[in-house]
Amino acid sequence: MRQQIVAGNWKMNNDLSQTESLITDLKNAKKTSKAEVMVAPTFTNLYKAFEALTGTDIEVIAQNMHFAENGAYTGEISASMLKSVGVKTVILGHSERREYFNETDESLAKKVDAALANDMRIIFCFGEVLADRKSGNHESVVESQIKKALFHLEASAFKNIVLAYEPVWAIGTGETASPEQAQDMHAFIRKTLADKYGSDVANSVSILYGGSCKPNNAKEIFSKPDVDGGLIGGAALNADDFFAIVNAF
Ligand code: PGA
Repeated sequence: MRQQIVAGNWKMNNDLSQTESLITDLKNAKKTSKAEVMVAPTFTNLYKAFEALTGTDIEVIAQNMHFAENGAYTGEISASMLKSVGVKTVILGHSERREYFNETDESLAKKVDAALANDMRIIFCFGEVLADRKSGNHESVVESQIKKALFHLEASAFKNIVLAYEPVWAIGTGETASPEQAQDMHAFIRKTLADKYGSDVANSVSILYGGSCKPNNAKEIFSKPDVDGGLIGGAALNADDFFAIVNAF
């Protein structure tokens, strides 16, 4: 069975004391599902979060990283820096990084390589904008995003890759993809993987849904056969809401 995962992407929210108090709430929450749980605080709070969550089954992950190992890249953070504070998993390709920080399929391919070279696990995000969905191009857009950033990899790399389908029109908008829309796309993604790498690889990769996933819709979305969990934004900022989603499995 594929690993079920619920990851909270805190984005640029929570200063140090807010991070500490959310972590206290998370530690007090009751987990009733088998899903793997991850949270992604901002860079400045990663170490504190890692310390505070050591010994729990909540993993601290990063929201982004640079592809270079070190050097003259003002303001950037490398894979080895993340690892040095205990982080072993990184989110790459979030639509906000693509939209506001000009991340391209090509730069993401380099980040993917750098993360894997450092033995890190990746949550790789992609998804179409509303215009693509309206014009019926959503599958070809997603296929292209996946192929350009990932299809240079060997099949064995996929044991360290989790995919996150996040339709951009659903992120932070309160508008969720319907469970059927999510399932259709996840099945398409799995087929795309199977065509290139075979069904064993395709069937082993966890594919998360992201985009206004909330306590009131998570159960139905997670009940779909190709949906293996969620990447949660807004609802991850409240421990009760987040664990209601974790426990929706
Ligand atoms: P949202 O964000 O849950 O607030 O829509 C999801 C994401 O951006 O990962």
